[in-house]
Amino acid sequence: MKFLHVLNGNPVWPPPAWLMRQAGRYLPEYRAIRAQAGDFISLCLTPDLAAEVTLQPIRKFGFDAAILFSDILILPMALGQKLHFVEGEGPRLPPLQETRILRLERAEAIYAPVLQTVRRVRASLPAQTALIGFAGGPATVACYMVDGQGGGEFSRIRRLAYENPEFIAEILNILTEATITYLQGQVEAGANCVMLFESWAGIFPPSQFRNFVIAPTKRITSALKQRYPGLKIIGFPRLSGLMLGEYAATSGVDAVGLDTVTDLAKARAICPENMVFQGNLDPLLLKLGGAPMENALRALLDEARGHPHILNLGHGITPDVPPEHVQKLMEIVRSA
Ligand code: CP3
Repeated sequence: MKFLHVLNGNPVWPPPAWLMRQAGRYLPEYRAIRAQAGDFISLCLTPDLAAEVTLQPIRKFGFDAAILFSDILILPMALGQKLHFVEGEGPRLPPLQETRILRLERAEAIYAPVLQTVRRVRASLPAQTALIGFAGGPATVACYMVDGQGGGEFSRIRRLAYENPEFIAEILNILTEATITYLQGQVEAGANCVMLFESWAGIFPPSQFRNFVIAPTKRITSALKQRYPGLKIIGFPRLSGLMLGEYAATSGVDAVGLDTVTDLAKARAICPENMVFQGNLDPLLLKLGGAPMENALRALLDEARGHPHILNLGHGITPDVPPEHVQKLMEIVRSA
């Protein structure tokens, strides 16, 4: 698999490509299945339908990797926190007041359908296409659990990190344990590598970044690699700025996803020598298409050439992207 060859540190050209949120509302065939499922959580927990939407972008664009269709908030839901999605807005959870409601022992039964999706997808994917399993990074998942929603500044978790650090540590501890078991389940079910989406890593100051982002990630990567020595792990510590270097050097991930603002050459300068990078075209360019997209993509490819690189966006694809622009992106990558 070209994708795993790069994750093992080998430059492959043209680079393998996939896009964060590649299964989603910009695809009419996704919207049809989504309507059939009713709501988004039901879609995540119905293996037949979740497997189908995972495979749609692979058939359509021939990406080098599929990513399990689910959501990072399925894990807190499985632990016992209520979750729903408001159409067009995002997730809502009752802001967590006490960790007592979180039950590790019953989570596995609730997320079992997600593992079933992994099995189905792996059985249907072309042999050369990798399947990426994933979980949210514990700090990012805790942001939603404590504040109850995104869209703001996660002011409650940031305040409690100073006022009640034991509470935050306890949540992170439970999430770290649950994430290890959850990702082990995904690997057993057929995921070829895993990714940790730490989308809000960048809201914490350095000392908290070390305790909330790097330390839990290190525990997860150590536990997974102890059990599966060859397993490759991608981290996406979004908006982490200069902390990216420390994250890459000490968290145990094999590859880092770069966010839109991060300069690839500068990232290379602050990360360990053999680091694999993934990213980081501006998602807005995929909406705009045309010369701006093509020029930026060619510049990114030039910068990545000769290094182990996985072509991706700097954040998820948005619902307003014309599928033809994705087609064009793949043509350019393939002929690089
Ligand atoms: O990349 C993929 O295609 C795999 C599936 C995936 C989803 N969410 C599907 C989804 C993955 C890996 C995620 C991760 C996720 N979920 C993150 C981390 C990455 C990031 O984007 O920063 C976060 C923060 C979430 C939480 C979440 N889920 C939010 C904030 C929202 C609402 C925003 C939106 O786009 O509507 C979701 C909903 C969600 N997750 C959708 C999809 C396809 C849209 C739901 C729908 O179909 O209505």
